[in-house]
Amino acid sequence: MTALENPTFRVSISVHFRAAVHQDLPKMEWYGQYAHYRNLIRRAYREQQIGKRLILVADSNNFPIGNIFILFLNPENTPKTEKRAYLYSLRVMEMFRGCGIGTQLIQEAENLMANRHYRWSTIAVAKTNHGAQRLYERLGYEIFGEDPGNWSYFDHEGRARQVQEPCWLLQKELVLR
Ligand SMILES: CC(C)(COP(=O)(O)OP(=O)(O)OC[C@H]1O[C@@H](n2cnc3c(N)ncnc32)[C@H](O)[C@@H]1OP(=O)(O)O)[C@@H](O)C(=O)NCCC(=O)NCCS
Repeated sequence: MTALENPTFRVSISVHFRAAVHQDLPKMEWYGQYAHYRNLIRRAYREQQIGKRLILVADSNNFPIGNIFILFLNPENTPKTEKRAYLYSLRVMEMFRGCGIGTQLIQEAENLMANRHYRWSTIAVAKTNHGAQRLYERLGYEIFGEDPGNWSYFDHEGRARQVQEPCWLLQKELVLR
């Protein structure tokens, strides 16, 4: 067998956190892995335009290698003590996991929420997803309830998909600016 002269070559990547733009939408399907969420991604992007949701992406080389979605739940006139936003669809491409990108996405999302005077950050985690639950608890989230996790959506081929994923509801009080 031919011995390689330099079998290991170290590269470093830079990751930039920003709101999603229209060109990200097809890339957020990760070459088909999340094509079934196309309608949900596009609806979230439409609602980003009116300030109801925000898609935060971790961009490397102009590709969204991770994302988290924020749903701003309360109407404008809700008292500050009650304003609550909901984080969901946190994901990082498999080869980039364990490097802190997921943590950074959550923290950047929390900063955005606090800047908009949202006091409570909420997140749901499947009861079987112990790794993600550990991550949230490490970041200060505490379980305050549970949900049967029954919901449905239409995939990119117009088929109705049912989801049944019992989950824990976690929350964290944010430091308002
Ligand atoms: C959960 C997830 C977003 C974390 O992203 P990440 O960039 O790896 O996170 P960080 O590097 O900041 O932190 C790593 C922590 O994430 C958690 N984690 C969960 N699944 C993991 C995985 N497959 N690989 C690495 N870490 C994972 C662990 O708590 C880990 O910390 P540990 O040292 O206690 O094991 C990522 O693993 C992922 O996309 N998983 C699949 C989708 C998912 O489960 N999303 C959560 C839905 S509620």
